[in-house]
Amino acid sequence: MTHSTLPETQAPSRLRCIQCGYEADHAAADFRCPNCGNLFEVAFPGWQTPQGLKAAGYTAQALKDFWRDRKSSLAPADTSGVWRFRELLPSLKPGYDPITLREGNTPLYDLPRCARAAGVRALQAKHLGMNPTGSFKDTGMTTAASFARQKGFRWVACASTGNTSASMAAYAARGGMRSLVLIPDGKISWGKLSQSLDYGAVTCQLRTDFDGCVKVLNELVKRRPIYLLNSVNPYRLEGQKTAAIELLEQLNWQPPDHLIVPGGNLGNSSALGKALLEMKDLGLIARLPKLSVIQAEGANPFYRSIREHGGKTLVPTAADTLATAIRIGNPASWKKALRAVQATQGLVEQVSEVEIALAKAEIGSDGVGCEPASAVTLAGLKKLVQQGFAQPDETVVLVLTGHVLKDPEFTLKFHRGDLFTGTAQEKDAAALVPQQRAPFVLDATVDAVLKTLDQFEAKDENA
Ligand code: F0G
Repeated sequence: MTHSTLPETQAPSRLRCIQCGYEADHAAADFRCPNCGNLFEVAFPGWQTPQGLKAAGYTAQALKDFWRDRKSSLAPADTSGVWRFRELLPSLKPGYDPITLREGNTPLYDLPRCARAAGVRALQAKHLGMNPTGSFKDTGMTTAASFARQKGFRWVACASTGNTSASMAAYAARGGMRSLVLIPDGKISWGKLSQSLDYGAVTCQLRTDFDGCVKVLNELVKRRPIYLLNSVNPYRLEGQKTAAIELLEQLNWQPPDHLIVPGGNLGNSSALGKALLEMKDLGLIARLPKLSVIQAEGANPFYRSIREHGGKTLVPTAADTLATAIRIGNPASWKKALRAVQATQGLVEQVSEVEIALAKAEIGSDGVGCEPASAVTLAGLKKLVQQGFAQPDETVVLVLTGHVLKDPEFTLKFHRGDLFTGTAQEKDAAALVPQQRAPFVLDATVDAVLKTLDQFEAKDENA
């Protein structure tokens, strides 16, 4: 099968409110439904079934062949691991090219040591931190930024815990737009902050938390023609969907039993869940993996919503965790994420700060590495196995969302043993000592290095 044998047809799409079903072609600046204030999603009327696909000239198998075939194309939209799947994305008007940094195309790794630590036979990680700016945000930013440019916006903006802002700043720069970043002062990693500066964003560190930044931004976009690029923007989630499509392609369309994802503002779990349901509806996969969402104990409003209110309401909390990417107390997309978890029969769990730190080191010791927020997935899996929700012989994929270099300060403090110094977790942190590898400062002699090596070997043999 070659490119020319299938029509280049993208599904006609509309915006649809997730609560009241109101449909529209355009949304207001805050992307909220004018009827009920809930969020929009992109719907593809007529394309939700194999019959709809067939009417458009496709079959599920033909789409799979087509996408695989595009990998050998050199066209920018085909080398993007997002736009390669454009039949399942909202389409840009003729004459508008996507803004792309060749996002997507991220690896799927085996994690043998982590599998042993979690008590499962086989464990894999889809590493979305291997995207161009080091996080999964790029897969959604390529779509939403492209729509911003198509709509003629000069300015784009987001509130962020650091990764969205890094990604937005890069895509805005590539697309010839200006970007405005609102971040909580002192609560994002330096790596992420430095990215948005380098990519030329106007960066405002507000004396508040992420949720406070969101509030300011929501007012701002009503007063100025600024395009909102937080994950309430449904075009972000469409691009983020492709991580799940690409994962299934890498697994030869055999779904794993479990897919485990970190939960912050809950856009990503919503996007991955939407992709799974769409793939099932279209006949691209035969069954659904269970999608489970893991939060940090200190930033757990979604977990509490389900445990304490049966998912009927979400009470915002004050959030605090060293996994700063998910330091969020009032997640915008919780209703979408709830639907994804329920439809796939997944679970929502929470993990402690020490559990996150241990899991991050374990992922590092498999030679993969990730930022702290991503490590909640392994920590959460351990709990799901202990509870019997995940069985040792089931297949599990962790979604790693950010690159290990995003937050080197966390990693250094962990290995030096002072990550939890002076905190309530100090005592529990004793369990982390075997994973710690502080650097040795030595005289510049062969003997000094050899002595260190011998001491290490002796300890290793005793371990
Ligand atoms: N992992 C990383 C590395 C993140 O940066 C985020 C969110 C998440 C997980 C959670 O994803 O919000 O879709 O549930 N970061 C956002 C930001 C909030 O501003 O960079 P989510």
